[in-house]
Amino acid sequence: MANTIAVLGVGPGSADYLTPAAAKHISEAGVLVGASRLLKTFAQPGQICNPITANLQDTVLIIKEQCKQHKVAVLVSGDSGLYSFANYLTKYINEDLLEIVPGISSVQLLFARLKKPWQQATVISMHGRTDEKLVKFVKEKELVAVLTGKDNTPQTIAGWLISAGCDDNAPVKVGCNLSYENEYIYCGNLSQLQQCCHQLTNCVMVIGDV
Ligand SMILES: C[S@@+](CC[C@H](N)C(=O)[O-])C[C@H]1O[C@@H](n2cnc3c(N)ncnc32)[C@H](O)[C@@H]1O
Repeated sequence: MANTIAVLGVGPGSADYLTPAAAKHISEAGVLVGASRLLKTFAQPGQICNPITANLQDTVLIIKEQCKQHKVAVLVSGDSGLYSFANYLTKYINEDLLEIVPGISSVQLLFARLKKPWQQATVISMHGRTDEKLVKFVKEKELVAVLTGKDNTPQTIAGWLISAGCDDNAPVKVGCNLSYENEYIYCGNLSQLQQCCHQLTNCVMVIGDV
């Protein structure tokens, strides 16, 4: 009989933001699956590590195969319920086999760094996708948190919003590499961000008055 598969939100990346519940699952697992940066931080000696590739179906097959013999922990960044691989897994693996453990989201951590609440914020993902609703929200001066991606960098998103007619003076904060030693918070407006020369990687943005 197959072992339960633990799908763990491991927080923004640093072990400081790993919950004790997720840490327990990791220490009990024989096999870890996740993005390379997460495996690098959380893998323990002797564990079999499987980096997630662009071919998600391959990863699903690996998980289904490995759980026959091992306890498998799937590591997802931030919270498992916010634009994560967990949702994909529930479509291809029997839910009775999955245990989902939530984590601290990058969005939560950025608002904490800004010392502001986020109950009014709408979360939009531009990670590997484009969401036109972002233009509408920024025009209506709603508070929006935006997950960015390789193609949709903060500068690209700022340029896209300005060309779509958004106020180029709209306030924006960008949290980069949150929880890591090279964490960086950028503050400015859309126009300044569009022209920003820093390479802003692994970022979440907040647009609007916080
Ligand atoms: C696939 S989404 C997953 C979001 C994740 N479930 C969460 O709750 O944060 C990946 C995006 O999350 C954001 N992200 C993840 N880790 C981050 C970090 N340490 N610092 C800033 N943003 C991060 C980035 O926008 C990244 O492109």
